[in-house]
Parts: sequence; structure tokens; C-alpha cells
Amino acid sequence: MERKELVELAFKAMENAYAPYSNYHVGAALLTKDGKIFYGANIENASFGATNCAERSAVFSAYSNGYRKDDIEAIAIVSDGDKLAGPCGICRQVLSELLNQDTPIYLSNRKEEMTTNIHDLLPMQFGLEDVIR
Ligand code: THU
Repeated sequence: MERKELVELAFKAMENAYAPYSNYHVGAALLTKDGKIFYGANIENASFGATNCAERSAVFSAYSNGYRKDDIEAIAIVSDGDKLAGPCGICRQVLSELLNQDTPIYLSNRKEEMTTNIHDLLPMQFGLEDVIR
């Protein structure tokens, strides 16, 4: 699957965002190497800290269905913001453990787009090997 197609699926997932507080909509589409797609959208909550981001929803869904980092081909994360936004800090931490360092991360807001990976998005990572000694 082409980058463009996965990005369009993420925009489709963005339609399911539940964001009555921020009115900022985010969608994610994660492609597995065997061709499955897992979707995510931001789901907010009146207790703001309980909000879940789109990319975490998508990656947790893939893991919940038995997929692991080596099974993941790429993830697209899109928003309806005016400026191209990268994943939040919590999502970077989660992606640093649940994606391979070089897994393509496609970002788009329809006006701008970029391809990156978690190696570039999160320097000096804290991970499994720091905790399990
Ligand atoms: N949000 C995401 O879904 N992903 C990010 O990486 C940035 C933030 C959501 C959370 C909240 O629902 C809204 O965007 C505004 O912060």
C-alpha cells in the first residue's frame, strides 16, 4: 500500500474522533506487513487526563490483536490542525517502545506532510533495557 492511501485511511479514521473539548481531530491508520489496517482516533473525556490520542489507540489496537513491532509496516497520523503537528510526548514514549526505530510515520494535515520515524522524533529514549537489568 502506498503512503497516500494509508494517509487517506487515517483521514477517514479522523472522522470518528470524539473531541468535544478541543475540537481538534486526529486520526491514525496502522498498516501491518500482512496487510491489515488498525485505526485510531482521539477520544476525549471530561476528566481530561483520561483522553486517548489517535496514534496510541491505533498501536494499542494492533497489539491487542496480537501484532508486534516487527509486524508493523507503517503508521499514518493526521489532524485537522492548521499546522503540521507531531505526536505528543506521551505518544512518542509509547511509539518508542511499540514501533521499530525506523518504522515510517507519515504525518499530514492536508496542507503539509512529512515522513519521519521514532528514532528522529524521540532522542535519548527511555525503554525496556533501562528498566529490566
Ligand atoms: N492528540 C492526539 O490524538 N494525538 C497527538 O499526538 C496530539 C494530541 C489529541 C488529544 C486531544 O484529544 C486533542 O488532540 C488535543 O490535544
